[in-house]
Amino acid sequence: MRVGIVTSGGDSPGMNAAIWQLERAARDHGFDAIGVRAGYQGLHEGNARPIDPVIAGQFARRGGTWLGTSRFPDLPARVDGLCRAMASLELSALVVLGGNGSLSGAALLAQRAPIPIVGIPATIDNDVGLTDLSLGFDTAVAYGLDAADRLRDTADALPRLCAIETLGGPSGHLANAVGRLSGAAAILIPEERPDIDAAIDTVGAALREGTHALVVAGEGVANINDVLGEIADGVATRLRLVRLGHAQRGGAPSPRDRAVAIASATEAIAAVGRGQSGIVAIAQGAVTRKAFADHRDAAAPTPSTVWRGLL
Ligand code: F6P
Repeated sequence: MRVGIVTSGGDSPGMNAAIWQLERAARDHGFDAIGVRAGYQGLHEGNARPIDPVIAGQFARRGGTWLGTSRFPDLPARVDGLCRAMASLELSALVVLGGNGSLSGAALLAQRAPIPIVGIPATIDNDVGLTDLSLGFDTAVAYGLDAADRLRDTADALPRLCAIETLGGPSGHLANAVGRLSGAAAILIPEERPDIDAAIDTVGAALREGTHALVVAGEGVANINDVLGEIADGVATRLRLVRLGHAQRGGAPSPRDRAVAIASATEAIAAVGRGQSGIVAIAQGAVTRKAFADHRDAAAPTPSTVWRGLL
């Protein structure tokens, strides 16, 4: 059996650890692991070769994905071409790591290709329905929290209003987690219209009680500069904004992300060995497999499912 491995869309910490474990688990089953370069674009071009276990092992502890990735928005129109490419590469199964767009693409392939297709949710945004925790989220939260702690160190010494803008696109999971874990005075997420008066109240109270106040906002919040400016004006304090940007998407995977990578990869290979397609999900702290059909309508996880009642 030849199992193709694709990393797709925005990379996330833990993808390399998953590739490493996919290759090891494939070998344990007597399968060959074939690494597809540059995501679905590379698959469409037939750009793939067997994974060298030594290289996979060397990259396992690093962020990004050594297979490379791509955005491939015209996938729905290229399904036939992708199926032809999988056939010419003689793939007998495909494992796709990526976020919602990549998993929707995998679902389309699963409808048409005569081989098992398995998706592993991997995005720092953690906005994939069906799983409580997508690969990379934990590491990205840790980076945001470290930035918040550092900002607080300096703001303790030199009082001011600080703000952190997290990645996350249209999803507020990263901002919410970083804000709650760092004790931010206000958290702004794209899913909710900013309540500037409420933020001025809580930020003002934090400034009166201590040396500084911290606001954490997701990058998808509309007119974020104006909103933060209004809050700063409301409390008559100068603002210092830190944009985490794409640095938040890099870095060595956290222990939790390595565990998710290893467990998900092991289950993905077991599933293709059984001839099954679907999404390998984390639910209630355990690895489980869900049908692609349920992915489209599933609500994204909430903070309470991610943090299991702790936050
Ligand atoms: O992969 C998800 C994500 O990192 C979002 O958090 C972010 O908004 C987006 O990708 C950035 O995309 P790109 O790397 O294409 O600029």
